Amino acid sequence: MVIGKPFLTVEQIQGKVKELANIISGDYESKKFLAVGILKGAFMFFSDLVRHIRVPMHVDFLISSSYVKSQSNGKVNLHADIRSTVEGRHVLLIDDIVDTGLSLNYLREMLLARNPASLKICTLLDKKSRRKVDVPIDYVGFEIPDHFVVGYGLDFEDRYRNLPYISVFKQKTERTVK
Ligand code: PRP
Repeated sequence: MVIGKPFLTVEQIQGKVKELANIISGDYESKKFLAVGILKGAFMFFSDLVRHIRVPMHVDFLISSSYVKSQSNGKVNLHADIRSTVEGRHVLLIDDIVDTGLSLNYLREMLLARNPASLKICTLLDKKSRRKVDVPIDYVGFEIPDHFVVGYGLDFEDRYRNLPYISVFKQKTERTVK
């Protein structure tokens, strides 16, 4: 059950998305780039972000997972790879959240091995206190404390991804309703 007020409201999220899109538009002004969304979690952030970016780009997606229930199992599974060529291109990896850093570290290494001209990383949320591996993050929306958050692409057991805001997830305790 999702309890209480949103942790990040629609307005806060959309404001930050526009801010990030402006910075990215400036940084990539003279270079066409490939935006790579990491599914499933990044689907909403990715689509909101790219529609505010004002420079030419290509888009592609990969599907990865590392979480079973609410725990990272430490192993990153690549379910589907991008179809685009990476060699010689400017790549921007876009994810919803960096937690332990294991997913992005794995995906970054995988794409760097394909010789991009550059590779940068953008995440909406950064749970820095949970980091297990050091991954360089170029664009961060919000640094957040160690709360389990759902909504705006983020899930608990694949639910709540469609919420337009972000909430702190709390497990419902069983009780008898009279
Ligand atoms: C989530 C999230 C990130 C990753 C972050 O994906 O979308 O990709 O975990 O965690 P990490 O920094 O500890 O690796 P998840 O594996 O849950 O798959 P999903 O995108 O389908 O939700």
